[in-house]
Amino acid sequence: MDGDSQTRRSFLSRLAAAAGLAGLAAQGGILVRSCVPNVTYDSPSTVKIGLPESFADGLTFLPAQRLFIVRDSKVFRAVSAVCTHLGCTVHADVQQLTDGPDPGARPHLQVQQFSCPCHGSRYRADGTNISGPAPRPLARYRLALAPDDGQLVVNLTDEVGASFVLTLS
Ligand code: FES
Repeated sequence: MDGDSQTRRSFLSRLAAAAGLAGLAAQGGILVRSCVPNVTYDSPSTVKIGLPESFADGLTFLPAQRLFIVRDSKVFRAVSAVCTHLGCTVHADVQQLTDGPDPGARPHLQVQQFSCPCHGSRYRADGTNISGPAPRPLARYRLALAPDDGQLVVNLTDEVGASFVLTLS
């Protein structure tokens, strides 16, 4: 065996070992990547919920967001339907009203209070807790208009104070 042959064999051995290590590293990378999902299953925090005119005066419940949209003409607010005790969905106790004496007026629902079916907490129409084990008012979220298409947008990570409303011009 001459020196050239040994050098070539040694080079090929090192090349094979390097290729093997590279293959193992690639497999390891694929294994680690397979543990990370390509999508998240969290609800998006900012959600378009529709054009303002699609909401009737009074109360609309959005089950997917567990959210009440309260409309009073041009004034909108978003009130969470998640009970602040242990997270059950609260119910709205409503009264059906019609606008003025016009018999053709569209009826709308006016919230009287919210109540929780789980342990009996009650909240005023503005979300303030008034009885039961609920420790604080229902959350209220920031509403805005989407600049691209004019839909109402609610930010479910941006809690606002009780005085916040979105007033359209
Ligand atoms: S979860 Fe609503 S009162 Fe307990």
